[in-house]
Amino acid sequence: MTREDPHRVCPVERAGGLDSGWRRLVQNPRRLLAPYIRPGAVVLDYGCGPGFFVPDAARLVGEQGKVIAVDLQRGMLDLLERKPEMAGLEARVETRTCPEYAIGIDEPIDFALLFYVVHETPDQSKLFAELAALLKPDARALLVEPGFHVKRREFAETLDVAERAGLRLLRRPFRLVDHAAVLGK
Ligand SMILES: C[S@@+](CC[C@H](N)C(=O)[O-])C[C@H]1O[C@@H](n2cnc3c(N)ncnc32)[C@H](O)[C@@H]1O
Repeated sequence: MTREDPHRVCPVERAGGLDSGWRRLVQNPRRLLAPYIRPGAVVLDYGCGPGFFVPDAARLVGEQGKVIAVDLQRGMLDLLERKPEMAGLEARVETRTCPEYAIGIDEPIDFALLFYVVHETPDQSKLFAELAALLKPDARALLVEPGFHVKRREFAETLDVAERAGLRLLRRPFRLVDHAAVLGK
């Protein structure tokens, strides 16, 4: 695996780039998540990294809801837990490490976010099958992959894998650089 391999796991040392002010401008978490998250929802942020989306997700779920933030790397979750924006939201957020080949939770989910993570996972078919089993009947999953790492053709293949695993493609939201899809059951 080379340094440029797009499928290598993003190292914790590069997490700063995932949490920049610039990113907040072009991928505003609240604006991006608000259409999908209702108060009281159980939200999965799979491959959450340092938690760019987590504080806003936690505000949107409110006191009765919950965000389950899952990542392969404990170091990413440590960064998330230390974020100043997490102050006062800790009770709404569960952080969990997962093994490379599993999401590893068993709680029914109202909304799942998979942002810039699927191309790093070793078995998309297994991932989507597990996700399909976790989603409640009306739940949605928002999948976003980086246009700078993932080619259009590769994203189309990912959507095929998702459909074969039991997920339905509902929409393809426009993203200027990235690829995005909303999936349901
Ligand atoms: C490019 S970062 C994106 C982080 C976050 N979703 C964001 O948009 O800021 C990818 C994250 O996915 C995690 N990851 C990679 N492979 C994974 C796997 N098999 N299971 C869970 N997390 C994984 C990495 O540890 C990393 O934190």
